[in-house]
Amino acid sequence: MSFIEEIKRRRTFGIVSHPDAGKTTLTEKLLLFGGAIQEAGAVKSNKIKKGATSDFMEIERQRGISVATSVLAFEYKGIKINILDTPGHKDFAEDTFRTLTAVDSVIVVIDVAKGVEEQTEKLVKVCRMRNIPIIVFINKLDREGKDAFDLLDEVEQKLGLKVSPLSFPIGMGYDFKGIYNLWEKNVNLFTEESKTDIADTIEISNLQDKKLNTLIGDTAANTLREELELVEGIYPKFDKNEYLEGQLQPVFFGSALNNFGVRELLDCFINIAPVPRAKQSEERLVEPAENKFTGFVFKIHANMDPNHRDRLAFIKIVSGTFKRNTPYLHVRLGKKLKFSSPNAFFAEKKQIVDVSYPGDIVGLHDTGNFKIGDTLTEGEKINYKGIPSFSPEHFRYINNADPLKSKQLYKGIDQLMDEGVAQLFTLEMNGRKVIGTVGALQYEVIQYRLEHEYGAKCTYENLNVHKACWVETEDETTEEFKAFKRVKQRFLAKDKQGQMVFLADSAFSLQMTQQKYPSITFHYTSEFH
Ligand code: G4P
Repeated sequence: MSFIEEIKRRRTFGIVSHPDAGKTTLTEKLLLFGGAIQEAGAVKSNKIKKGATSDFMEIERQRGISVATSVLAFEYKGIKINILDTPGHKDFAEDTFRTLTAVDSVIVVIDVAKGVEEQTEKLVKVCRMRNIPIIVFINKLDREGKDAFDLLDEVEQKLGLKVSPLSFPIGMGYDFKGIYNLWEKNVNLFTEESKTDIADTIEISNLQDKKLNTLIGDTAANTLREELELVEGIYPKFDKNEYLEGQLQPVFFGSALNNFGVRELLDCFINIAPVPRAKQSEERLVEPAENKFTGFVFKIHANMDPNHRDRLAFIKIVSGTFKRNTPYLHVRLGKKLKFSSPNAFFAEKKQIVDVSYPGDIVGLHDTGNFKIGDTLTEGEKINYKGIPSFSPEHFRYINNADPLKSKQLYKGIDQLMDEGVAQLFTLEMNGRKVIGTVGALQYEVIQYRLEHEYGAKCTYENLNVHKACWVETEDETTEEFKAFKRVKQRFLAKDKQGQMVFLADSAFSLQMTQQKYPSITFHYTSEFH
């Protein structure tokens, strides 16, 4: 297969949702479609379910929360599909934001009873900022939920999307009879059989066809006709280009648990979802079809195998082909690195691969060379943009609880920060270290990992900080800046890159500081250049 054909057959996407909407279940069912072809008997077993969750870390197993993202790849109808799993828990939102820099499109899962929830709103906002194409999957139709039209309204209003339903439910909950597929013009009936097998669909290209009445009864058939007429009247017709530009979002209904409506979603997905897209670097736009390899690190995963203390850096390939045992330039370090065992991901397994293509994710064994956002190339000095740090929400001093293990502690902190678990700030005044996180849970993760992976012990101490702001000034020699540094010394710190950060203790003090030092700009994200 040619290089261009390889690119064209790849679809790399993420599934995002509020916890419990059914993201994991949907992921599993999608994997079954890929796996079912080779192992039809395995469909009913629990095997894939176990592998599909990204529970590589002990702590994750303990908590039952997906603390890490991983990659699940499979083939379906000749298309290579890469699913980047994202943690739904809000404390790991930054992990999800970073993963979104590596996807070409997303599927948003919404619980039919709960409607649009908080995490979904936040994540979709990030997708919309980047114009990522979105497909909406409304899940759990086997349960009583909100009226389909009300839900579509909610999706439009809360998520700011312009929806175009491509399937529509026939009843719901106890009365759920199936779905009408507007994309394929057929009916898929929800029966006992459809729960264990992938049901056959029945073509109904003309809605007036009496066959519809026979299938679902007169009342349901008439209601469906009326509803579909409404759908046609209210919602824009699906347009692939608008979808690809992030301006229109197709909606599917189904029940992931019952593997219902999932085939329809997948078949449409492989038709419309974008092939690997060009990516902007600080220097130029890079096209996937360029001959030379480029890629960037969007995720670092530590200790996937508890017996080996290595890290795996996840690289999204943007252009060219990535080959095993070939020296590539690590742009930030300015040195060439070679990888003898790059991993590719197939369903729940890792495998060493010789060649990978744009859209693919490779996992590279790392001994501490990589940080989130690093770029690898064949020699060109480019840097991919778009993985900024945001101001954390929680701040605590970190103290060493075992003086004999201080080296291990600092090494551990250093590596965990490179993985993007949290952010480290070092106070200018006394050199004390402050850990900033998005959620309180990360403190426990850090403590646990420092102990189990590095043999170090830490304690925390509360610190009252409202926001961390990255400080920018055109001229560091002005009297104003010098005065700022003197007066606010207690609140100044350096981030891991050595950038100056102002740790404001309240919204009020931040506002006062901004007024008092107008030539200084205070940024909520580390990327403002
Ligand atoms: P998440 O990854 O988005 O957090 O959600 P997950 O797939 O884990 O699903 C959350 C719960 O919702 C699970 O139940 C799952 O079985 C259920 N679920 C998913 N899809 C459907 C559906 O289409 N219909 C119905 N009725 N339920 C669905 P659980 O009891 O929390 O977990 P489990 O013990 O079943 O695994």
